[in-house]
Order: sequence, then structure tokens, then C-alpha cells
Amino acid sequence: MTKTLSVSAIKNGTVIDHIKPGNALRIIHLLGLLKNGRPITLGLNLASKRLGRKDLIKIESVELTTEQANEVVVFAPEATINIVKNFEVINKIKTHLPKNIEDVFICPNLICISQEKNVKSNFQIEELGDEIKITCHYCERTFSRDHVKVKI
Ligand code: CTP
Ligand code: ZN
Repeated sequence: MTKTLSVSAIKNGTVIDHIKPGNALRIIHLLGLLKNGRPITLGLNLASKRLGRKDLIKIESVELTTEQANEVVVFAPEATINIVKNFEVINKIKTHLPKNIEDVFICPNLICISQEKNVKSNFQIEELGDEIKITCHYCERTFSRDHVKVKI
């Protein structure tokens, strides 16, 4: 059976697939993918057997590290992360939620000390059923995944 891809196959790089719709752009900022100038193709609200609809990100010539793949889990627990070499998927990275994330999120608490210029934000991450609890190391306030802002 031939299958048609809505987003072209890549030769080398990383495919982040099965992202819950609405999360692809946050993941792009989370990983700082716009900073390195590599080609990125994006599929939003694509049809998916597993999820009904999904977002998808293909990054050419970049292999995500396990640490970066784990950060993706914060916004897309169901995402699959595939490393492609010479058009073949050579590795599906096994991910788990990281215990903390440094210098990626901005604390929504406007009077938090982490808002100061030279302070790196640091959040503790905990699983809470389907939800996650993101706690600021500095002000100890807790936020859900939909409330933290990603540094751009
Ligand atoms: N892919 C790609 N370019 C390639 C090879 C694969 O963009 N040269 C993409 C596929 O389109 C798919 C993802 O990488 O979105 C994973 O590929 P593959 O493991 O072949 O797909 P499935 O078997 O459908 O895997 P899964 O069970 O993760 O859906
Ligand atoms: Zn804070």
C-alpha cells in the first residue's frame, strides 16, 4: 500500500510526531529551533488514526538529544520522536518527563525573583495523572502546562 505524506519525508534529522494539536509552536520555542537556521517543516491539525488530529514537526539535519526529547514530553506526553538517517527511521527515542527544567520557561508570577535579568528560571516538574505540576524553584508557585510561558 502506498501512503501519501502530507509533509514531505526528510533525508536526515528528527521527526516529532503525534503532538496534541495546538502544541507544535510551543515545542518549537521550547527547543529553540528557530535559532539555528535549519529547515523546519510543520504540519498542524493533520489527520491521525491514534489521536484524531495531530501536529507534527520535521527538523532537517538536527538530531535531538535525549534531554531535548524529554523536554518535549512536558507539552506532548504522547509525542513520538524519530531520528532519521538516509531516509530511514533509525531510532525512536524513549522519553520520560524530566524532573526539572532550567532556563526555558518564564515564571507567570510577575514579582518572582526569576524575572530579574541575570537569573536563570528553574522549574520542578511532577506528574499528576494526565496533568503535570510545574513548580517555580524561586517563588514556589505551581502552574499547569497551559500556564507557563516559554522564553522566545
Ligand atoms: N518520516 C519522515 N521522513 C523519513 C522517514 C520517516 O518524515 N525519511 C516520518 C514519518 O512520516 C512519520 C515518522 O517519521 O511521521 C515516523 O516514521 P515511521 O516510524 O516510518 O512511521 P510509523 O511506522 O507510522 O511510526 P509510528 O508508529 O511512530 O507512527
Ligand atoms: Zn516564580
